[in-house]
Amino acid sequence: MEETKKTLYSGIQPTNNLTIGNYIGTLQSWRNLQENYNCIFAAANMHAITVRQNPAELRQKTLALIALFLACGVDPQKSIVYVQSHVPAHAELCWALNTFTYVGEMERMTQFKDKSARHAENINMGLMDYPVLMAADILLYQTEIVPVGLDQRQHLEIARDIAQRFNNAYSPTFTVPQGLYPKVGAKICDLLDPAKKMSKSAENPNGSVFLSDDRDTVIRKLKRAVTDSENSVRYDPENKAGVSNLLTIYSAFGGKSIEEAEREFDGKGYGDFKLAVGEVVADRLAPLQAEQQRLLADKDYLNSVMLDGAQRAEKIARKTLSKVYKKIGFYQV
Ligand code: TRP
Repeated sequence: MEETKKTLYSGIQPTNNLTIGNYIGTLQSWRNLQENYNCIFAAANMHAITVRQNPAELRQKTLALIALFLACGVDPQKSIVYVQSHVPAHAELCWALNTFTYVGEMERMTQFKDKSARHAENINMGLMDYPVLMAADILLYQTEIVPVGLDQRQHLEIARDIAQRFNNAYSPTFTVPQGLYPKVGAKICDLLDPAKKMSKSAENPNGSVFLSDDRDTVIRKLKRAVTDSENSVRYDPENKAGVSNLLTIYSAFGGKSIEEAEREFDGKGYGDFKLAVGEVVADRLAPLQAEQQRLLADKDYLNSVMLDGAQRAEKIARKTLSKVYKKIGFYQV
């Protein structure tokens, strides 16, 4: 890792059914972030088990996520790519940080409250401890930058609070991380309910295009996207939310500006327009999926990437953990 670059950390849960919104908002940017930062990208499988998982699926999805990272242009030589559970320091630091975190502040976290409502039959300690594990992820690597969406902002704030609390109790130990917030603009909404953000867990899966959707599915979903009765392809998010969302998708995937897209479909009907959006998305997903499949067929290579990533991560993480253990008074031999 280069000394002069700042460290950037990000993780994705392998159980997230990623949408084209996640691709545009997050994954797509990772390739370029590698030029400016020392990047560490994790498959957060320890976070995933805070809701019940099918073990065989979790294993498969972890592998598929690592393959997806690489298919999106993450270079495992430039960046550290690894699986969270392969580096035991995460669980260890989480435990120590638990003693610097208050039950009350965890009970107040928005995501904890949401998930408790959705998984009322399994409000386990891990669900509540989720933000502390995430703080451990970030703080272990002396991370300076964490790219986060709105939903993770509160978790990053807690990580900063915990770092400062620990630093104040002892002496500077952790770098206090900063958020890198995506530029507004390319927010992708649900195809059937454009007032909502496109989500991995939408009630109706036809409102979301998943990165794993095949060509026919993508085209069918876009064909069914809601528009309006005006039959004019014009960007006007307030009055034409559906059409504007489709223009955003077309622009993001086709590499054209919104104005160019408007001109291209001037005088054309919604049928032609929706088909074109579907095609541009499917054309972009096809090589990504093909590369992911190619990598998945080479398990030895993926294993070697994960192993190498975990070893490099472990080295950095151990250093931080050892500092923490020293400060809190753990006898070390
Ligand atoms: N909680 C994040 C999510 O679900 C994933 C995650 C785990 C993460 N550890 C992280 C993100 C550390 C940023 C930094 O999206």
